[in-house]
Amino acid sequence: MPRASARLELIPPYLFAEISRIKREAIAAGHDVIDLGIGDPDIPTPASVIDALADAARNPATHRYDESPKGWEPFLEAAANFYHREFGVQLDPATEIGQVIGSKEGLAHLAWAYLDPGDVAIVPNPGYPVSAIHARMAGADLYETELNSKNAYMPDLSEIPTEIAKRAKLFHVCYPGNPTGRPATPGFYQDLIRFCREYDILAVGDMAYANVCFDGWKNPTLLQMEGAKDVAIEFHSLSKIFNMTGWRLGFTAGNPDAVNTLQKLKSNIDSKAFPAVAEAGAYALNHVSNQATLDIYQRRRDALVDGLRSIGWQVERPVASLYVWAPVPNPNMTSAEFAKALLEKAHVLCIPGNGYGTAGEGYVRFSLTLLGDQNGERFAEAVRRIAASGLIAAPVA
Ligand SMILES: Cc1ncc(COP(=O)(O)O)c(C=O)c1O
Repeated sequence: MPRASARLELIPPYLFAEISRIKREAIAAGHDVIDLGIGDPDIPTPASVIDALADAARNPATHRYDESPKGWEPFLEAAANFYHREFGVQLDPATEIGQVIGSKEGLAHLAWAYLDPGDVAIVPNPGYPVSAIHARMAGADLYETELNSKNAYMPDLSEIPTEIAKRAKLFHVCYPGNPTGRPATPGFYQDLIRFCREYDILAVGDMAYANVCFDGWKNPTLLQMEGAKDVAIEFHSLSKIFNMTGWRLGFTAGNPDAVNTLQKLKSNIDSKAFPAVAEAGAYALNHVSNQATLDIYQRRRDALVDGLRSIGWQVERPVASLYVWAPVPNPNMTSAEFAKALLEKAHVLCIPGNGYGTAGEGYVRFSLTLLGDQNGERFAEAVRRIAASGLIAAPVA
């Protein structure tokens, strides 16, 4: 067999291999592992969305290629309605919305649509790795903006060298963030728009968790800011809000050129989602409330955060996202060592923060998705086991 392309070697090795091995061994030894690793919603897709899929699948009009330029029309319209309802921004479904096969697919292909060797993609560290991996495969250089508690998890734009800004084509941000769960402020978004306008950069907002918010809190969006449509595109996902991860459906919103440029590439790769899936997605966007799901996540968040605090581990309570981003409570351990020890001693699985970039070192990420938990009972059990493990030696500030 011929060798795979050199660019494939740029994909980093699977960082969690060791953790996965210990998890398999613990399960094989009969231990009850509480897996707070991956952020894949455990709650089923709403029955009404499944009914909408079944109805649409019976309609032969959905059995064909979707040859529309940017996506299944009812889906694009539903996305525009949803955006207006949720975020108060009017978008033209004909020019300012595009359909993607999940936001992961869209983010990956955006790199290929925009980046040439020598270009720069600005990416968050820590961050969801897909955009950075594809930017590198497309031959671009990365500039990482470090996110930490000192800068409130928002990049300091004044630290970006002018030479980098001039070469940059894409500036990726993700709020509420994975893995940090932190939001951006409208003030930061306004600065970002000014910065991108000055240097002719496309601002890319990954909004996978924009509607996974707690305590009635509303997440600001880039497109709410004046002038954003000139320089920004957002990626929205139906995965987390409607428990539709496996359905592979999302949409882009914002600058018409950017929406089109991505679709131009995609039209030579895929022929969009099964139209019946797009119909069901339109139904979800138009009719489904995710409040019951959010209530479950919120109960879990509180069980975990209150529980960890009660045993001396000071973690922040996220206002949004599916994650609790917790500082490693033992100064002598790396993220990976702590995650390994937690799995071995408490049979609780979390993800070492360095898996999301060097700036994630010193943190671990707990996911709020866990099959079978309704009221946070398993999260309370995780806390009991963590307390009993002896790994929280002394209260951390
Ligand atoms: C920050 C972020 N963006 C994008 C995605 C991809 O979501 P999807 O492709 O299911 O829309 C994820 C999935 O975990 C994510 O965490």
